[in-house]
Amino acid sequence: MPEIILKNVSKRFGKFVAVDDLSMVIGDGDFVTLLGPSGCGKTTTLRMIAGLETPTEGEILIDGKTVFSSERGVDVSPDKRDVGFLFQNYALWPHMTVEQNISFGLENLKWDKERIRSRVAELLATLKIDQFGKRYPSELSGGQQQRVAIARTLATGPKVLFMDEPLSNLDAKLRTEMRSELKRLHAETDSTFVYVTHDQLEAMTLSTRTCLMKEGVLQQYAPPLEVYHNPANLFVADFVGSPTMNFLEGVGRGVNLDEIKMSVSGLDLLFSPVSGSITLRDDQPIVMGIRPEFVRIGETGKGRARVYAALPSGMETVVKLRSGDQLLTSVVFGSIDYEADGEVGFGFDGEGCVVFDKETGANLAIGKLAII
Ligand SMILES: Nc1ncnc2c1ncn2[C@@H]1O[C@H](COP(=O)(O)OP(=O)(O)OP(=O)(O)O)[C@@H](O)[C@H]1O
Ligand SMILES: [Mg+2]
Repeated sequence: MPEIILKNVSKRFGKFVAVDDLSMVIGDGDFVTLLGPSGCGKTTTLRMIAGLETPTEGEILIDGKTVFSSERGVDVSPDKRDVGFLFQNYALWPHMTVEQNISFGLENLKWDKERIRSRVAELLATLKIDQFGKRYPSELSGGQQQRVAIARTLATGPKVLFMDEPLSNLDAKLRTEMRSELKRLHAETDSTFVYVTHDQLEAMTLSTRTCLMKEGVLQQYAPPLEVYHNPANLFVADFVGSPTMNFLEGVGRGVNLDEIKMSVSGLDLLFSPVSGSITLRDDQPIVMGIRPEFVRIGETGKGRARVYAALPSGMETVVKLRSGDQLLTSVVFGSIDYEADGEVGFGFDGEGCVVFDKETGANLAIGKLAII
């Protein structure tokens, strides 16, 4: 299982910087997702690692071997990097059966007939498409075709598998199913997966590490739950999580070394960091970020709010609350229909509040938020 190392990799198209000084290590057997809004440089990054795009600067190593170096003039061609691709438009060959689609690459590599036969059988079983071996792509559903495409990509046993939004043209139900299949596949093969998506849920559920980018610049590279609970900055906090994090803006005042106060539309808030201290400049504009699951509705809460809208979806209910002129999103387990405009109490649970510097967006501390 190879490790992939990017050192100060940049890609410019003319004056436009698509990827800016990116350094990261994709570890042995990792499932890394490249995540970010459209145009942030995900595909460009993937293509540079794969050798389909030449970086303007930097160095890339796969399995200890330099495959690209602008300084030393190294640029190993894609077919010599031992990698496999799966792109959004995975076009199977329509005139070939499923088995022929999968075996095509192996025949090109001059594998003997028996070895090809057993490899194809193994892949059909792994991807649960054994009963479709003799069918043509047009006789399969979208999800089945997708699995054939994955089998075809895996056939030659690439050490690294690159996927660029491979599930984006499937319906919601199939996409969820394919996510589990991909996760199992990753567990069963020895490959390192590098996966591009702009769907934060996909990144959260699939990856061992998420690389979140904005306008070509790396924002945070960490396991998904760390990205979720300890976002590096406001952009990351806002991009990850659905429904999105609540943001309360105000001016913080230090009470002592360990606590700060802030007033937002009639709410007096006290924040205590879970570890260490937090110091603010006088009148420093800050943003308190609190995830919807930490906004607890209940009569014991010190806050008072009116229900703006309740959105029950079966397993959970998203409740929008209005407190002063601040809207807050809360998520409660189960289907509870709150009456619009009804008054409720609320408070903040747990130690998952994040304080950000409003100007730089930087995460200053995580801790406990209380209404006083
Ligand atoms: N060949 C090219 N020439 C000029 N600009 C390019 C070229 N390829 C990509 N870009 C630009 O580089 C930026 C990053 O493109 P990229 O395809 O990596 O984005 P992405 O994050 O994959 O977006 P999406 O989610 O929409 O696929 C974009 O602004 C794009 O317009
Ligand atoms: Mg893309």
